[in-house]
Amino acid sequence: KTNEIILAIETSCDETAAAVVKGGTELLSNVVATQMDIHQKFGGVVPEIASRHHIEQITLVIEQALDEAGMTMEDIDAVAVTEGPGLVGALLIGVNAAKSLAYAHDIPLIGVHHIAGHIYANRLEQEFRFPLLSLVVSGGHTELIYMRDHGDYEVIGETRDDAAGEAYDKVAKALALPYPGGPVIDRLAQDGDDLYNFPRAWLEKDSYDFSFSGLKTAVINKLNQLKQKDEEYRIEDLAASFQNSVIEVLVEKTYKATMDLDVKQLIVAGGVSANKGLRQALQDRFKHTDVELMIPPLYLCTDNAAMIGAAASIEYHKQHYKDLKLNANPGLML
Ligand code: KG4
Ligand code: ZN
Repeated sequence: KTNEIILAIETSCDETAAAVVKGGTELLSNVVATQMDIHQKFGGVVPEIASRHHIEQITLVIEQALDEAGMTMEDIDAVAVTEGPGLVGALLIGVNAAKSLAYAHDIPLIGVHHIAGHIYANRLEQEFRFPLLSLVVSGGHTELIYMRDHGDYEVIGETRDDAAGEAYDKVAKALALPYPGGPVIDRLAQDGDDLYNFPRAWLEKDSYDFSFSGLKTAVINKLNQLKQKDEEYRIEDLAASFQNSVIEVLVEKTYKATMDLDVKQLIVAGGVSANKGLRQALQDRFKHTDVELMIPPLYLCTDNAAMIGAAASIEYHKQHYKDLKLNANPGLML
């Protein structure tokens, strides 16, 4: 079946999400129940609390996704679910829901890697042209992934310590800003100047790897120093200085990789791709090149199930199905 209808489920972190996707490219419904406000009180995601809310929400979210697509389970050709990586207790809720549905309705079950999902969010907007490079920047990942074909992932660079989103969240916490830190720092940075010129971690000359923990420490040290000396400072300037350092390294390394590998497209994915500064910097850098830049609309940048349905379509056509032994795998490799 070419235009298969997939029901997709995503519960790897703090969003309970379900979506219906047709043929890997057409989004019929996309429901996301976020727990952000609940975890905000704790300054980060609390795994136990996340699992409990997933249990409460999952059935409702799936029903709503079917409803909004105008469908019942009878119309669904396969069920897809994020099997990892993520929080194991959170993943398990989605995996068990998907297994029950696949078993009850006797339809194929598909396991999806969360990062493959982030990449395939872009295919809901535009067709892929290979070879391509994907820059994945989220709360848990910072990776450059080279793709020769659908479902074929070669990680050519990754972070050696903190992920980009993780650095945003940790710096925000040090600046006493709410969780998640990314959007807040992004907003503050728009009104700030790069006064502090924090270090850029280029690493070895030809490395596509990243490192953000040194930058995080530099920001915290600067803040402590300013406070100690009772100097006046604007949090906007700290935000802008931090953000500029992150963006410059992300954009330059990504640019070099696209040139070295002569790719047709650059696909940006993950929560940090919502960043205004990063989006603008990438647009400027790639304007006069032959590389087509693809950045998903904001609602497809952060965690959702539409992207899981899009990635699952590739597995569906290869008949890469899972049996009911499928388990959550928090350390799943791409
Ligand atoms: O992809 P995502 O929703 O979840 C993971 O798979 O990790 O990404 C969440 C991350 C958080 O660290 C959040 O601070 C960051 O994405 N983020 C941003 C922005 N919006 C979300 N970081 C920078 N600028 C933003 N506008
Ligand atoms: Zn994610």
